Amino acid sequence: MIDATVGLGGHAEPLLEADERVRLLGIDRDPRALELARGRLAGLGGRARLVEGRFSALAEIVEATGIGPVAGILADLGMSSLQLDSAERGFSFRFDGPLDMRMGAEERTAADVVNRYSEGDLRRIFRELGEERQAGRIARAIVAARREEPIETTSELRELVYRAKGRGAARRREGRVDPATRVFQALRIEVNQELDGLDRLLESAVRVLDLDGRLVVISYHSLEDRLVKNTLRALARGKVDEITGRPRAETRLIEVLTRKPVRPSPEEIELNPRARSARLRAARRI
Ligand SMILES: C[S@@+](CC[C@H](N)C(=O)[O-])C[C@H]1O[C@@H](n2cnc3c(N)ncnc32)[C@H](O)[C@@H]1O
Repeated sequence: MIDATVGLGGHAEPLLEADERVRLLGIDRDPRALELARGRLAGLGGRARLVEGRFSALAEIVEATGIGPVAGILADLGMSSLQLDSAERGFSFRFDGPLDMRMGAEERTAADVVNRYSEGDLRRIFRELGEERQAGRIARAIVAARREEPIETTSELRELVYRAKGRGAARRREGRVDPATRVFQALRIEVNQELDGLDRLLESAVRVLDLDGRLVVISYHSLEDRLVKNTLRALARGKVDEITGRPRAETRLIEVLTRKPVRPSPEEIELNPRARSARLRAARRI
């Protein structure tokens, strides 16, 4: 099996424990997570192999490691608790930290994006990657503020977003969703180029899967989920024949197993509040 986002090994461990015949290739772009996963999986008889890399390079990683077609591929997208809870990595507005947000060895930090992108580009990423309705206002406020001095920390950015959104934003932050959530999401996706990589992951995954193998993807926000849904549908439909205008049967690579995404039960959310927004979609290689 392949765990394309092995993180701290929370999924890899039960997969390996479930059956002694399971061997697992774990990939993650975050070297600190891999170190912890290595410790956690050490007792499992050397059946896990961990590789630092991006899942967009799945095909190349599989080729380099020489493993054959696999029975299952799992991708649990987004951030690990390790990343979210480390103030110094700047993913979360719950802590004051530098505006970093790099999951691995990316070149650009969130501070680079905030302080260097044009107003138009900031507006575009807040709108497209954050689905933020007040993208224009927030981009304008950022450009005005950085003329005075660079924006360096998560709390400076959060306050700026509150001010740009105006009255009511501060009050609503007591509610369930912080008004700065969408801006932080957009920056994180931009810094880590998350959506580009996901597309490539799914395309390669179906080619690495053995016949009857399963692909399981868990996403945490609607942009990601939509991309997963549409890509899986396209792979299930196959390519259209130019002459007949119908999909060609032999180009259908998968069957989608989840018509609707699987959501966590209230009990699971109570045990693990971060599962709240999770949506799981699965497919079978045919
Ligand atoms: C939600 S966590 C996975 C947690 C894991 N399932 C566990 O049980 O510990 C997501 C992980 O995906 C990694 N990640 C995100 N985008 C990635 C990418 N493009 N390539 C490789 N790893 C990625 C992150 O570094 C993070 O560790």
